[in-house]
Amino acid sequence: MAVKKEKIGTVLHTQSEITKRAKEICAQIDKEFEGEEVILLGTLKGSIMWMVEIMKHLSVDTKIDFISASSYGSSTTSSGVVKITYEPQTNMYNKNIIIIEDIVDTGNTLKYLIGKLNERGPKSIKVCTMLDKKARRTNDIKPDYIGFDVDDLFIVGYGLDYDQKFRDLPYISYLDEDDVESI
Ligand code: IMP
Ligand code: MG
Repeated sequence: MAVKKEKIGTVLHTQSEITKRAKEICAQIDKEFEGEEVILLGTLKGSIMWMVEIMKHLSVDTKIDFISASSYGSSTTSSGVVKITYEPQTNMYNKNIIIIEDIVDTGNTLKYLIGKLNERGPKSIKVCTMLDKKARRTNDIKPDYIGFDVDDLFIVGYGLDYDQKFRDLPYISYLDEDDVESI
């Protein structure tokens, strides 16, 4: 039988490592929000697999919604101008919002999103990112919950894409130049 998902790039974190880390983070969130309700706000599309890991293992009362933001220009020539392209349906007023991100890179998108969400009067806003590429940060954004730190690599898999491909890989990997040439 053919292998359902061939390995692409170099594997950084397997499914079981990701689940183990998600459970640790959920235990922390459960403790901090004991007796409260949280709204998990996933950023489309990259955060979907991490969102599922987090929502599966949280015990506090949870509702989910999604938001989509895009920055003008390509990811490498990002102008820093961000636009919301999908609006969540949830009323954020007096709610505990946990933004679920795939990866924080420059931090531009997140800074913009946090600013916009704060205008809606939430009780609290936290950020739970699967990956943190700290070396590329251009502002003071610091995620509250971090799955894994990553070096300045081009990451794919577990929601993250290269030209919309590889989001479906059930592991986190990165592409080097040879991989990109063969795609
Ligand atoms: P930021 O605004 O520079 O922090 O970039 C945020 C978005 O860029 C992330 O949410 C991803 O969608 C995308 N991105 C940044 N780094 C990578 C990567 O290594 N692989 C795939 N997408 C990435
Ligand atoms: Mg994203």
